[in-house]
Amino acid sequence: MNKARIAVLVSGGGTNLQALIDAEHSGILKSGEITLVLSNKSNAFALERAKKAGIATAVVQKKDFENAGAFEDEIIKTLENNNTDLIILAGFMCILSEKFTSRFNRRIINVHPSLIPSFCGEGFYGLRVHEAALKKGVKVTGATVHFVNEIPDGGEIIAQKAVSVLEGDTPEILQKRVMEQAEWIILPEAAEKISKGLLE
Ligand code: GAR
Repeated sequence: MNKARIAVLVSGGGTNLQALIDAEHSGILKSGEITLVLSNKSNAFALERAKKAGIATAVVQKKDFENAGAFEDEIIKTLENNNTDLIILAGFMCILSEKFTSRFNRRIINVHPSLIPSFCGEGFYGLRVHEAALKKGVKVTGATVHFVNEIPDGGEIIAQKAVSVLEGDTPEILQKRVMEQAEWIILPEAAEKISKGLLE
């Protein structure tokens, strides 16, 4: 294997996916290549970003399956057909079962928009994380990249970066700052680190 095959799982806008695509082009991500972008939403803008970059896409939607288990089985099948080495959750808004996470032990990473263990776990995703941080009045927040296990946001931490909360911040303003100053930097760096480890 000369590059780890990376599948990026998305649900929305895909700015973190874009950061990974850009990192591959610039050479920051050199030990892995994005070979698949899988979305659980057919209208996710992330799919457009993937197509523009010439990356294969797949859509697997919960509503098309009888239950959560069948939905996950289809995702697993799609990832295995792609010979995926590393799975990156980049704004993927589904909680994965133990069956799923144990199948890809230490081969799934996630980016979360806070300094774990603050503002994380079930119910803390997207803008809600920043709303909670502002409500608490923290002066520093940030982002975390971690391995994914059966506990939501509970796997081993790989990287973190702090970001200041400023006077007058709204959840949207804070979200953008955390993305620009933390997520889009530490996610590609972590992707490279873990990909490199898989090659060794
Ligand atoms: C990002 O802020 C990501 O950290 C967060 O959703 C956003 C997705 O944006 N993920 C979570 O909250 C997961 N718990 P994107 O689609 O533009 O990358």
